[in-house]
Amino acid sequence: MHSATAASGAALDITGLTRVFGRGEARITAADGISLNVPAGQSVAVTGRSGSGKSTLLHLLGAIEQADAGTILVDGQDITRLRARKLTEYRRSVGFVFQRFHLLPALTVLDNVLAPVLPRRTSYDKQERALDLLGSVGLAGREHSLPAQLSGGQQQRVALARALIDTPRLLLADEPTGALDTTTGAEVMDLIVRLGREHGTTVLIATHEEAVAEGCDRRLRMRDGRVVSDSRPE
Ligand SMILES: Nc1ncnc2c1ncn2[C@@H]1O[C@H](COP(=O)(O)OP(=O)(O)O)[C@@H](O)[C@H]1O
Ligand SMILES: [Mg+2]
Repeated sequence: MHSATAASGAALDITGLTRVFGRGEARITAADGISLNVPAGQSVAVTGRSGSGKSTLLHLLGAIEQADAGTILVDGQDITRLRARKLTEYRRSVGFVFQRFHLLPALTVLDNVLAPVLPRRTSYDKQERALDLLGSVGLAGREHSLPAQLSGGQQQRVALARALIDTPRLLLADEPTGALDTTTGAEVMDLIVRLGREHGTTVLIATHEEAVAEGCDRRLRMRDGRVVSDSRPE
């Protein structure tokens, strides 16, 4: 079932997930005992106002921030308890897309997409895969451009191709449309959901723009570190 090009997405089983920032009067519970199940391959919009805990949830899921309590089972493995080597391995199985594209300005589009796998041996032809992905995000022929020569929407497409280069089990997108105009944002959003489906990737997209969430399989709404609504597909 597993191959480099057809990964199956991760199934998530989150229980009592808690993250607290600061202490005393400044104490903020950014994740307040979140429990959540996400089947493999589902696309989930995480909505809610600024400060509701969307980014914190994504950071905990990507293991770039540590939980204070709770468990996150990813295909049955608790990633809150991983040690250094396994943690690195896990982080590599996660793709990230951010609001600001974070492309390396001195590298071509192609090299930006290749950056996560450049120092590593892979079971697939990296260059071929990068060019394939650039095609699927509508940037065929732009591989030798520099990021500054592209529009914002195009740069976010490059960032999406980069996030998918190593066939992640989980794709986390944090306000991916936040720096884009409405139309371009909607296009990027559709692309994230569509490519997630094509690759079987589990996708979580944090957004404070409710409309952005429409194409997803499921929508969560967060408030004060909790999931306050969960609308599932019929
Ligand atoms: N590194 C941090 N230090 C202190 N407080 C933080 C930190 N990260 C997030 N917070 C706080 O946690 C809450 C949730 O933040 P965040 O997860 O970024 O929300 P959202 O992404 O929904 O805007 C906010 O009150 C925010 O100020
Ligand atoms: Mg945020």
